[in-house]
Amino acid sequence: MSGVSLDGIVKAYGAVQVVHGIDLEVQEKEFVVLVGPSGCGKSTTLRMIAGLEEITDGELKIDGRLVNRVAPKDRDVAMVFQNYALYPHLNVSENIAFGLRIRKEPKDRIAASVEEVAGILGLTEYLDRRPADLSGGQRQRVAMGRAIVRRPKVFLFDEPLSNLDAKLRTQMRAEIKRLHNRLGVTSVYVTHDQVEAMTLADRIVVMNDGRIEQIGTPMELFLNPANMFVAEFLGAPPMNMVQAEIVAGEGQPAAQFQGHRIALPKIDSLQNAVGRHVTVGIRPEFAEIADDSVAGRVGIDIDLVETLGSEALIHASLAGKPFVIRTDTVGQMAKLDHVSGFTVPPHLIRVFDSETGRALAGQVTAA
Ligand SMILES: Nc1ncnc2c1ncn2[C@@H]1O[C@H](COP(=O)(O)OP(=O)(O)O)[C@@H](O)[C@H]1O
Ligand SMILES: [Mg+2]
Repeated sequence: MSGVSLDGIVKAYGAVQVVHGIDLEVQEKEFVVLVGPSGCGKSTTLRMIAGLEEITDGELKIDGRLVNRVAPKDRDVAMVFQNYALYPHLNVSENIAFGLRIRKEPKDRIAASVEEVAGILGLTEYLDRRPADLSGGQRQRVAMGRAIVRRPKVFLFDEPLSNLDAKLRTQMRAEIKRLHNRLGVTSVYVTHDQVEAMTLADRIVVMNDGRIEQIGTPMELFLNPANMFVAEFLGAPPMNMVQAEIVAGEGQPAAQFQGHRIALPKIDSLQNAVGRHVTVGIRPEFAEIADDSVAGRVGIDIDLVETLGSEALIHASLAGKPFVIRTDTVGQMAKLDHVSGFTVPPHLIRVFDSETGRALAGQVTAA
């Protein structure tokens, strides 16, 4: 049972508290991604798990054992950093073997482990090279190899792909996922990149300013963000946010603003909220383009259409504010020329309290 349990974890530097009481249960074999803007406390939290930062308050357990006061080397975790932290004067084989040598494992066992890990990571033909003679992606693999070879209970990753170019990042992302599927080691992965979070995570933890905003599967957070912070952080382009008043509507509640009206789902929390000023969240992917002939469309002013191949981004304004629609191009090119508005299925709309930012009850499903 090599899970990781954080219970009320706090970090303060002197009088300044930067992590304000994190509760998180990472299950055995789970891949959990901590995501959030720069400075929100992701690395600090990860380093507390690794034992590289002292824990100010709260309890940290790995595999059920309280480890607050246990030295990093005795926690049975392996960390992969953004800057790889390879030894420049050692070759690939020696870099991968380093942790095992320190542990004084038998030579033949070290050699067998290095060979196996190099095979898994496609490094077999580079074992004699020094880090300086490797590409960024290969160095990243060596850093991973050094972590894997130790067979730790938990992998910890801090922005391991940030130094790679976009193409390599996508490739390494898939490799990390495959590796996790194969090895099944409990992993906590830190990134500020929401695409990495969405693609890698079993569960995502969205952090903001030293606190957890929401924990859930990628699709749970994408479809049902608990608040406006999560809604705007996950998804690119971000969710469109429209200020409106809830009105009774015909048969179902609607959001009304500046001469526009958008039908909302027929659920109690919205029907009981008539008269309230809210923020209506519409994902760019959920708005469907419409021309003048479509009844009930919401009119927009088109500013710019970016065609990206299989999809297009329509940059428009709605009631004077930017509004973006993401649409497929295939079979729709003629339609794209005549867009003057959009419709949106009510059940895909998320409504937020404008003051607290919290979502009103209701569930969006992709089914
Ligand atoms: N050694 C330190 N001393 C004082 N403040 C620190 C130290 N390390 C990090 N911080 C502060 O803690 C906050 C969280 O930092 P960090 O965990 O590195 O954020 P993230 O990894 O999410 O970008 C930031 O405000 C940062 O300035
Ligand atoms: Mg960081």
